[in-house]
Amino acid sequence: MLVVGPNGAGKTNLLEALHVGTQGFSPRTRSDAQLIRFGEGGARVALGGHRDEAPLSVEVVLRAGAGKQARLNGIALRSAEQLRSDLATLVFTPDRLAVVKGGPAVRRAYVDRALGRLFPARTELPGEYAAAVGQRNAALRRVGLGVSSREALEPWTARTAALGAALAQARSKALALLEPEVAVIGEALRLPGLRLEYRGEALSAQALDDRLDRDLERGATGLGPHLDDVGVLAGGRDLRLYGSQGEQRLAVLALLLGEAAAIADRTGGPPLLLFDDVLSELDPERRRALASLLAGRGQALVTATDASFLPVAPDLLLTVQPGEVTRG
Ligand SMILES: Nc1ncnc2c1ncn2[C@@H]1O[C@H](COP(=O)(O)OP(=O)(O)OP(=O)(O)O)[C@@H](O)[C@H]1O
Ligand SMILES: [Mg+2]
Repeated sequence: MLVVGPNGAGKTNLLEALHVGTQGFSPRTRSDAQLIRFGEGGARVALGGHRDEAPLSVEVVLRAGAGKQARLNGIALRSAEQLRSDLATLVFTPDRLAVVKGGPAVRRAYVDRALGRLFPARTELPGEYAAAVGQRNAALRRVGLGVSSREALEPWTARTAALGAALAQARSKALALLEPEVAVIGEALRLPGLRLEYRGEALSAQALDDRLDRDLERGATGLGPHLDDVGVLAGGRDLRLYGSQGEQRLAVLALLLGEAAAIADRTGGPPLLLFDDVLSELDPERRRALASLLAGRGQALVTATDASFLPVAPDLLLTVQPGEVTRG
C-alpha cells in the first residue's frame, strides 16, 4: 500500500496512528499527550481487520491527563501496551537508522525488543536483568560507603550473573534466528554478506567477583549484557563505522524484514509493516528490490511524497491531504 501526499499532509500521522492502534504506543514519542490533536481533549484509533479467518477489531482511546485504554475484539486490556503480545507491527522511520549508526545502547534495546517479539515468554528478561544490575550497583555503593559488608553483595552478584547469562543467551538465540533471514534479505537488497555478531564477555558470578575491586571503586557493575553490543557487518565491514548512509539504511531494512520473516515463521502470521520515508533515499534498483520483497509478505504501508518513487504499481494507493485520506 502506497501512501502519498505533500510534506506536512499527515502521512507520518497515519502510520503513527496505525502503530498506536496495533501496539498501544507511538514509535516516535513516549508522551501520549503529543498524539492528541491540538485543542482536543482526547484521541481514538479504531481498526478493523481479520487474522486468518477470524475478524479482529482494536480500539485505543487516549484522554489528556488520564492514561490510555485499549480493547481487542471488544474486551478491555489491562494496558494498551498489552496489544504488543497479540499483534506484531514493525516500523521503519528515518530515526531507526540509529540501530546501525548509533551507540551500543540503541542496538541492545533493538535486540531486546526483537527477542521479546520472537520469544514472548522472555519479554520481561531484559527489564529483570536491568533491575538486578541496579540493585547490585546500589549494594556496591553501600559497601563503598562502609555501611554494608562485601558478603552482603553475594545475593545480588548471583542474581545479576544468572539473569545476565540468561539474557546474553536469549539475545544470541534471537540473533541466530534473525541472521539467516537478514542475510537473504540483504542479498536481495544488494547488500551482500550481511551478518550480525553478538559482542560481549561471558558473565558469571566468578567473573563478577574477579573484578569486584574495580566495581566497588566505580560503584557500578562493569561487566554484563548491559554493556554488550551487536555488530552489523556487510562483507566483513562494520557498517556503523564504514557503511555509507544508503548501506546503513539497507541494513536496517534487512533487519526489519528479516525479523518479519522470523516472526511469520514462528507465529504463522506476518507482522504489519510501516515504512516511512524509505524510498526517496534508495537508488532505483534497490527501490525495485524493496518493492518485490514487500509483495506477498502481509500488509505493508509505505509513504512517499510522490507515487513515482515506487517503481511498481501498488495494490492500493492512498492519498493524504490534511485531515483526509482518499483512495487512488
Ligand atoms: N498533536 C497534533 N495536532 C495537530 N497537528 C499536529 C499534531 N502533531 C503534529 N501535527 C501536524 O501534523 C502535520 C502533518 O504531519 P506529518 O508528520 O504526518 O506529515 P507528513 O505527511 O509525514 O510530512 P513529510 O512528508 O514532511 O514527512 C504537521 O504539520 C504537524 O505539525
Ligand atoms: Mg512524514
